[in-house]
Amino acid sequence: MPDSTDCPAPASSFATAQIQAGYAAGVAQHTSVPPIYQSNAFEFSSLSEARDLFALRRDGNIYSRAANPTVAVFEQRVAALEGGIGAAGVASGQAAVAVALLALAKSGEHIVAARQLYGGTIDLLADTFVDWGIETTFVDQHDIDAWRAAVRPTTRALFGESVTNPNAEVLDVRAVADVAHEAGVPLVIDNTVATPFLQRTKDFGADIAVHSATKFLGGHGTSLAGVVVDLGTFDFSAEPERWPQLNAPYQRVPGGTLVERYGKTASPYIALVKTKYVHDLGPSLSAFNAFQLLQGIETLDLRMRRHSASALVVARFLDTHPAVARVNHPGLESNRGYAAAQTYLPRGAASVFSFDLRSTGDPEADFALVERVIGALEIVRLVANIGDARTLVAHPASMTHSHMPPAMLAEAGITSTTVRLSVGLEDADDVIADLDRALAVVLTAVG
Ligand SMILES: Cc1ncc(COP(=O)(O)O)c(C=O)c1O
Repeated sequence: MPDSTDCPAPASSFATAQIQAGYAAGVAQHTSVPPIYQSNAFEFSSLSEARDLFALRRDGNIYSRAANPTVAVFEQRVAALEGGIGAAGVASGQAAVAVALLALAKSGEHIVAARQLYGGTIDLLADTFVDWGIETTFVDQHDIDAWRAAVRPTTRALFGESVTNPNAEVLDVRAVADVAHEAGVPLVIDNTVATPFLQRTKDFGADIAVHSATKFLGGHGTSLAGVVVDLGTFDFSAEPERWPQLNAPYQRVPGGTLVERYGKTASPYIALVKTKYVHDLGPSLSAFNAFQLLQGIETLDLRMRRHSASALVVARFLDTHPAVARVNHPGLESNRGYAAAQTYLPRGAASVFSFDLRSTGDPEADFALVERVIGALEIVRLVANIGDARTLVAHPASMTHSHMPPAMLAEAGITSTTVRLSVGLEDADDVIADLDRALAVVLTAVG
């Protein structure tokens, strides 16, 4: 792993850190922008050096599946924005969630997760992890007693999204963190929708942040990526027998443990994520994508302000529209998440949210209605993504959350007429005019 101490200390303000953290000009050709190190592997000066690097006695580059200098800048930049002590960049958000949790829970162990998660994460926890002997109990994220009651002696992590996709429910991170810490396990937060600009989840007690960097961090819909950040708050050596993967002798660290090797200078947890899970399973982030993400992150605060402001205007418009039964946006005073948003999202609520069209009462007719509305949109695009510069629409029940059984969908607050929006950076008035025109279809259908 590259030595994180090679780089300048994180800049103190968010806007400076998002442009400068993690990169010191002066390497290679003195490029002021981090270059794309498009190389699979790195040359060793001697066999002795190679031997030390492979034995993790020294930090440095070996092979881009395990570490790459462009990826390292991305990792350090996101770690700086989240206030973390180390990060692992990976190929997608899905990979980030998977490796973050695999490094905590193994076969026979258990996770407690919010039931209001992104559908792909539910697939991972309720299907693939079950095949691997890792069980998850899903709870209503607003029921703090349910989180506490679900904890078992084998529980190794609590997991939730700071702002959920698609319904923009705001998690009481502090309360769930307290439950996790009473149980002696870390709270892992998927901070994709909020980004560290809207919520520095560490400030509310989270221990590990994960992101689909595919979304707002990249911001332009061009590059899949994920990142796991150790926020440095959870002491894995306090109960060494609970975390043998970090505290027991480990054959990849000859003569020692990951805590002994990395505990003083870096994150042993991130070292485990990289040297075992990314190394063995191979979901590595490419240098080219890391470069694209760094470009995106440079404007994160500007974009997030605009995304949030436009989304609130669009939500207010929808809230008064006769074709709309409900708007799930925590910036609206009537939303159950409004008070939580004041605490957890003081710079603005997220721009991914949903609304329900007025139902016809018949699921098949509802589907046809949603299809006609979406088909009538011209500026808002039907795309299975969020966090793009473009405004995107999706129908969760038949797209992102289509693998969930009807009861689970209902529990997650997703109906047949729920429509998700990810409000982009266009002129909000144009987005509203487009929605207004398309929604006229509903008025004709349901009167
Ligand atoms: C909240 C959240 N987490 C994780 C993911 C998975 O990320 P990716 O598509 O980059 O694998 C997504 C994707 O939509 C998401 O919305």
